[in-house]
Amino acid sequence: MYARTFGAATQGVDGLIISVEVDSANGMPAFDIVGLPSTAVRESKERVRTAIKNSALRMRTEKITINLAPASVRKESAGLDLPIAIGLLAAQGRLRPSICEEFLFVAELSLEGNLRSVTGVLPIAITARAEGFKKIIVARENINEALLVNDIEVYAPKNLMELVDFLDGEIELEPASPQPVDMAEGFVELVDDFADVQGQFMAKRALEIAAAGGHNVLMVGVPGSGKTMLAKRMSSILPEMTREEALEVTKIYSIAGKLPQGSGLMTKRPFQNPNHDASTAAIIGGGTNPTPGQVTLAHNGVLFLDELPEFKKSTLEALREPLEERQITISRVNGTLTFPSSMILICAMNPCPCGWNGDNDHFCRCSTMEIKRYMRRLSGPLLDRIDIQIRVPRVRYDDLSSKRRNELSSAIRERVSSARRIQTQRLEKYHLFCNAQMTHALIQKLCILEPTAEDLLKDVFETKKLSARSYDRIIKVGRTIADLDGGKESISARHIAEAIKLRSDFEIES
Ligand SMILES: Nc1ncnc2c1ncn2[C@@H]1O[C@H](COP(=O)(O)OP(=O)(O)O)[C@@H](O)[C@H]1O
Ligand SMILES: [Mg+2]
Repeated sequence: MYARTFGAATQGVDGLIISVEVDSANGMPAFDIVGLPSTAVRESKERVRTAIKNSALRMRTEKITINLAPASVRKESAGLDLPIAIGLLAAQGRLRPSICEEFLFVAELSLEGNLRSVTGVLPIAITARAEGFKKIIVARENINEALLVNDIEVYAPKNLMELVDFLDGEIELEPASPQPVDMAEGFVELVDDFADVQGQFMAKRALEIAAAGGHNVLMVGVPGSGKTMLAKRMSSILPEMTREEALEVTKIYSIAGKLPQGSGLMTKRPFQNPNHDASTAAIIGGGTNPTPGQVTLAHNGVLFLDELPEFKKSTLEALREPLEERQITISRVNGTLTFPSSMILICAMNPCPCGWNGDNDHFCRCSTMEIKRYMRRLSGPLLDRIDIQIRVPRVRYDDLSSKRRNELSSAIRERVSSARRIQTQRLEKYHLFCNAQMTHALIQKLCILEPTAEDLLKDVFETKKLSARSYDRIIKVGRTIADLDGGKESISARHIAEAIKLRSDFEIES
């Protein structure tokens, strides 16, 4: 007899519905799965057979053929165990095929027959709703993730036997109910505060602007000036995520299998801080079984690269695509995958190998050649994509010893959030969240410069021989500064002057 059920896999950051066709007929006993199954799916055979047996359900030894469609897609997920088991029971007459087709089944099976959680349930549930499914069956640990999608009933039976009784109409199961999400809860456990950092007003201002508009920052400074300390406090001033942004982040963590057990929506912006010996694939994404890299795990949050020149040159070059496109495309045998990577890149580095170049009170031991070689690790095209480039000097004694109370992160975050709200409103109809995401065309349309600002920019563009990309990036930072300045409609010369200073602070002094 023949039966069909529905399961799912993931592709990039999206869910994909898989139709599981099962035929069980008289003939030479066999159990074949066709339709490009990966090893995980082939192992599924043993789990399904044992789980059915241990659930006191009978499986006849027949010629069983299972086809996973569409065949062109490689299926990595163990979550196809459940639709395969249910399809098999339906094909052998144990369940009514028509009732089985009403559900989407997404869970791995333990040998005992319990439902186990799988990765990617959120994107799968989103696709399921889009394709008209009304009911989804998942493991208990995945309930909160599936519940993030409205208008779909989520059921989480304990084991295969309970599910069979439910499908038979022998028992009732209540659909799980959604819990309210507090978008501000991500801030509760933050401990590192900008108030801990003495002095460094320019760096603090630069990071505030970066947080407000989503701009990339490079901090160059002597050892111990507080660069790492400043970067690590970025999380404390980032604006709350919109629900849409939070869903994007949660989808990525769901796919990567990095969602904390049983959790629902991720409300805190990610902060990724990879080590410089991490592989290019770990940072950018990819590998034989493509998984999101750090640039994607930092989506809608921060990617912090400390000691930038220590990273492999190939990794730094590979950063150009995610920085420019805000997504990363990974080629594989059968097609390409895209992962989002719209993040704030924060980089820190010393000005030279010994660290003291440009410091008035220390002698720099590096030769001009050594400094050049050190700087050459960062290519022009990479630096061009960093909107804000500042020097972080040694902390002054007066600042360090001052008893003055510094501004708290919460006060900075308030300014950042109101500037971000202005941007979200302005950019809503383009499905963008912050100024850094604007394209050249949008900049032309949405960034109006006052005549004096225009003149100033023209002067600097010509004297400094700026690239077109620099031009766009200065205007975007100027837009953010105007947004922080009470959301001024047009960008003034003062705003542009600060944006220019922030872009070339390091260049001028080096
Ligand atoms: N501006 C500052 N205010 C207060 N403490 C500072 C400051 N700069 C540095 N420090 C102290 O020095 C330590 C080293 O700073 P760090 O951020 O690691 O410097 P860098 O990354 O620039 O080499 C910090 O952990 C902190 O204790
Ligand atoms: Mg450091």
